[in-house]
Amino acid sequence: VASSVLELGGIKIAKDDVVRDDPTNNVPDTIFSKLGLQLHRRNNHPLGILKNGIYEYFDTNFPNMFHKFDDLCPVVSVKQNFDDVLVPADHVSRSYNDTYYVDSQTVLRCHTSAHQAELLRRGHTHFLVTGDVYRRDSIDSTHYPVFHQMEGVRVFTPDNWEASGLDPTSYAAEDLKKSLEGLARHLFGAVEMRWIDAYFPFTNPSYELEIYFQGKWMEVLGCGVMEQEILKISGRSNSVAWAFGLGLERLAMVLFDIPDIRLFWSTDERFTSQFSEGQMGVKFKPFSKYPPCYKDMSFWINDSFTENNLCEVIRGIAGDLIEEVSLIDNFTNKKGMTSHCYRIAYRSMERSLTDEEINDLQWQVREQVQNKLNVVLR
Ligand code: PHE
Repeated sequence: VASSVLELGGIKIAKDDVVRDDPTNNVPDTIFSKLGLQLHRRNNHPLGILKNGIYEYFDTNFPNMFHKFDDLCPVVSVKQNFDDVLVPADHVSRSYNDTYYVDSQTVLRCHTSAHQAELLRRGHTHFLVTGDVYRRDSIDSTHYPVFHQMEGVRVFTPDNWEASGLDPTSYAAEDLKKSLEGLARHLFGAVEMRWIDAYFPFTNPSYELEIYFQGKWMEVLGCGVMEQEILKISGRSNSVAWAFGLGLERLAMVLFDIPDIRLFWSTDERFTSQFSEGQMGVKFKPFSKYPPCYKDMSFWINDSFTENNLCEVIRGIAGDLIEEVSLIDNFTNKKGMTSHCYRIAYRSMERSLTDEEINDLQWQVREQVQNKLNVVLR
């Protein structure tokens, strides 16, 4: 576990400031221990290598234009994370089921978009923000409650679009697509690409960029033309801007052939020694794959049951030994009681697990699921 006083983006934070026994706090120790690790700032780590590879694209094509931030504090206000980027009051992402709340007004950022308005207000017009982001979620090989994003924002003024003969929104959208297609080619080579219409509260129009890679269409990023309202509240009314956000793990997993998202957190030399600064896309050679062990568990759920809560209890006990939690059976009986059966896959990325160890974990899981979630085991 990380030391109990952290320095995050120049701000000192004690463990008690973040993890508390308080009904408006849902941050567990397992998440606190990830604060400050900043995998994206390690130049020998696949996430740092990818960040630097994206920087290289912007530095080459837009010399000295984009200001880079990779050390902004992940503890932000509800206003920064949601209100400033126009996330509606009833949007699911605001719920305690989806977001980690430090208290009712403070969260662990769930996206790097939390910094858009603040940086615009500080006068920045071209910037990249890389950071760790936090989301409550279910467990499988591509989802982990902490991951990393990079945000990009570019603001244009009337002299930019007036000469083009386009309206400001079309001008920004065209520039956005051109810039991001170039980025995708820089990372993936000559791939086929397509633009999909999307929805984000902070952009309009909004798009997702997909590339055809290894036989299927894969989402690379979300983006769009920034809502005027954000520019307005940030003191930049007479301008138009684009923004994008991309998940570093998703891209690094395909670029480096990394099969499980937990590996990014591994300190095993057999993982860490395979990557070095500037070596983009060197393929990871898996060390032998240890066998998984499956345990099933069935219980009657109650009205407040959610899969995210279940996964957090399980992760709190077995940490990175959990590979996947999947719902394998679900039925409602004549009395209206609903039963769920979950299959838990235990597997270490680094060693074989013993039967004894897994049985002990599973026993604790059963006990805590029953006690903390108030479900009835079957
Ligand atoms: N914040 C969005 C997400 O996390 C990504 C995004 C950023 C989309 C900027 C559009 C513009 O999914």
